[in-house]
Amino acid sequence: MNAKLDSGVTTRPVTRQTFDEVLVPTYAPAAMVPVRAAGLEVWDQEGKRYLDFTSGIAVSSLGHCNPALVEAVTKQVNTLWHLGNGYTNEPVLRLGSALTEATFADRAFFCNSGAEANEAALKLARKYAHTKFGPHKSRIVSCLSSFHGRTLFTVSVGGQPKYTEGFEPLPQEINHIPYNDIEAARAAITDDVAAVIVEPIQGEGGVIPGDKEFLKALRELCDATGALLVFDEVQSGVGRTGAFYAYMDTGVTPDVLTSAKALGNGYPIGAMLTTEEIAQHFGVGSHGTTYGGNPLAATVGLKVVETINTPAFLGRVKEASAKIFANLEKLSSEYPQVFGKARGQGLLIGLPMAGDFKGRAKDYTKLAEKMGLMLLIAGPDVVRLAPALIVSDEHIAEADRVMRAAVEAFIAA
Ligand SMILES: Cc1ncc(COP(=O)(O)O)c(C=O)c1O
Repeated sequence: MNAKLDSGVTTRPVTRQTFDEVLVPTYAPAAMVPVRAAGLEVWDQEGKRYLDFTSGIAVSSLGHCNPALVEAVTKQVNTLWHLGNGYTNEPVLRLGSALTEATFADRAFFCNSGAEANEAALKLARKYAHTKFGPHKSRIVSCLSSFHGRTLFTVSVGGQPKYTEGFEPLPQEINHIPYNDIEAARAAITDDVAAVIVEPIQGEGGVIPGDKEFLKALRELCDATGALLVFDEVQSGVGRTGAFYAYMDTGVTPDVLTSAKALGNGYPIGAMLTTEEIAQHFGVGSHGTTYGGNPLAATVGLKVVETINTPAFLGRVKEASAKIFANLEKLSSEYPQVFGKARGQGLLIGLPMAGDFKGRAKDYTKLAEKMGLMLLIAGPDVVRLAPALIVSDEHIAEADRVMRAAVEAFIAA
């Protein structure tokens, strides 16, 4: 007999405290519990309103509960949810066509998250190298401070040892080089390398843009050695930097690209894009996932791509970015003891803490949240701003006001 359900467990009030009682403590969520959201606004259980400059960690780029997405997914909910991979479906065929038309890629593989997209990319690279060159070509080169997800393979490829500690033994044949270090890349990328994976702008690692020369050198080294160049665009993709994918502004084309986050605007979806020749190495039965390319996720993804991939939309991302950068430059020149120079691309922006305030980014974002502005961090030293791409000039002005009030309170505390 299920005594818990009889005791009204599904209907009695829940609070932040409930998290500490029933969920595995992998996260330390904020004190407030959001219950409702629209556009860039969020309301908590007490009815307090917040301006959201996080978009769910660079996910809800078209805003919360975007009406066009709600309409598209509602229609699909009433039509077809799920069939499994024994059947294809119209939304995934349309989304695959849209993504391959919009990018260098000829083929798409769909899954449910960024980590899964990277897992697919890394497995594909190993398979490709194995069948084309032999088992000796298996090494993966990645960058220090990079983040590629939390499966055992992707977390090992990521360049942040704090995330792998205690999970050993880890997958083998993975090396890390300093980001933007061309000499280190030359030394590491030799004939036994199967793949080089890189974020064109490091997100979790502190919002560090990749140098064009570095990305170009990776391309040349991959061409010379037969390694595949994988761009992890899970955070930078789908308009976030002002290009539909960040690679489009770098002059470098990868062999494999991974996408997730904003592709579903909050509906879980991941995608791995690649060329015809490389895709052929992932034959029937070599990889898969029950929900990949599910009609609901693909419907949302298609509407997202249609909306974001237009010159007018992407132009506005760059315009909004310039306005936020101008505000942040003023802020850090007025408070040089607290903030360094803002960096980033488009609407993925990092504001480093300076001097005695280094290591205290979280304290600052907590203060801003109390004052009604949701911000992210990227490591202990960097405040990260990643508002929805539909951010208005009024939102930008409001965020500026709160960030100023918060820094005053921060210094006074
Ligand atoms: C660059 C990058 N790759 C991969 C991931 C992992 O994505 P997910 O959390 O959807 O598995 C993230 C998440 O932050 C990311 O920023």
